[in-house]
Amino acid sequence: MTEAPAMRDFALEAYMSKWEFVARYNLTGSDAESLRLPDLLALANDGERAEFENLSLSYTQTYGAPALRAEISRTYDSTAPEDILCFAGAEEGIYIAMKVLLTADDHAIVITPNYQAAETIPLSICAVTGIALDENDDWSLDIDKVEAAIRPNTKLISINFPNNPTGKILPRKTFDALVTLCRKHGIWLFSDEVYRLIERTPELRLPQAVDVYERGISLNVMSKAYGLPGLRIGWIACKDRALLQRFERYKHYLSICNSAPSEVLARIALRNRETVLARTRGIVSNNIGLLNDFFADYSHIFDWKEPNGGCVAFIRYKGPDGVEAFTQKLVEEAGVFFLPSSVYRSDLGPVPQDRLRVGFGHLDLREGLSALGKYLMRNDRY
Ligand SMILES: Cc1ncc(COP(=O)(O)O)c(C=O)c1O
Repeated sequence: MTEAPAMRDFALEAYMSKWEFVARYNLTGSDAESLRLPDLLALANDGERAEFENLSLSYTQTYGAPALRAEISRTYDSTAPEDILCFAGAEEGIYIAMKVLLTADDHAIVITPNYQAAETIPLSICAVTGIALDENDDWSLDIDKVEAAIRPNTKLISINFPNNPTGKILPRKTFDALVTLCRKHGIWLFSDEVYRLIERTPELRLPQAVDVYERGISLNVMSKAYGLPGLRIGWIACKDRALLQRFERYKHYLSICNSAPSEVLARIALRNRETVLARTRGIVSNNIGLLNDFFADYSHIFDWKEPNGGCVAFIRYKGPDGVEAFTQKLVEEAGVFFLPSSVYRSDLGPVPQDRLRVGFGHLDLREGLSALGKYLMRNDRY
């Protein structure tokens, strides 16, 4: 029997765990500013508050609490609560979907650059082809390259738009072409939509895969646009209920069920989603203004371009020391934390190695930029 290859370390998460909680200024986070518990509870109606305060801290249903699944299903155009399966964050959903869908005889296609789980988990199971977004053409996706990569045994195409780390959103016609391609070949479209609902304008918002394609699998989470990563509530929406049940059976070996308090809190946030999302979008929009101003003064060092979605951008660093040395010294000497492009290294093909990830979902961006500006001024070669 041949053994599946081991999964290499998750470079981004390993780098994050080294610096995320010690760096003074985190200018690289991919989530939006977290809500505080009292602020979230202030949005609860009397019934929800009473439910939260009297909650039994028991196991909950593996699929997720029925009322939560009902609230989640309302965030799609066409799903029923039975089409939703909750997970401990989006990460568990990626893991389980890949483990259930793919076998050693299959082939998968994954976009690069990516959140590493998107490629490392499939790579531990089967052959995977990477299709690179074109950094010289505003991170565009060449649909002909995707088509050319399809093999008779291609089972799944995995996408993530708005993309981590580039913030790219596909034009609607490219997304539609991808769906058409998947339909033609009977391929599952695994669509990581965790940054959806953070777009520069609503017209840029893509449909959710599950709403437009019978083999669409939509992944989402409370962590990003809703600013509630600590709840660890994610979900998959999929209309193939037999497949969803296979995912559920796998979950019995992992988290089993979600945390009961998190389920109630997620439901409160989702019922008030317009308020919660307006807060996130306000913070992001204000931060983009700050970044535009800041980088205008430092265009000799950074190529900043506002991405069309999400709250991260993957910007070029042009200093002579290179981005690895720069980000390392910057966090050690000034406490300003950026992820360097090495954490996005892919096993599927080259990823630009002169970039860093800027995150702009947090309220303390102004202070962080001020510390960065002072550091750059102190170092006269900048
Ligand atoms: C594209 C993408 N998918 C999934 C995840 C995992 O989300 P969570 O931390 O909520 O499990 C992340 C986290 O950064 C992400 O960027």
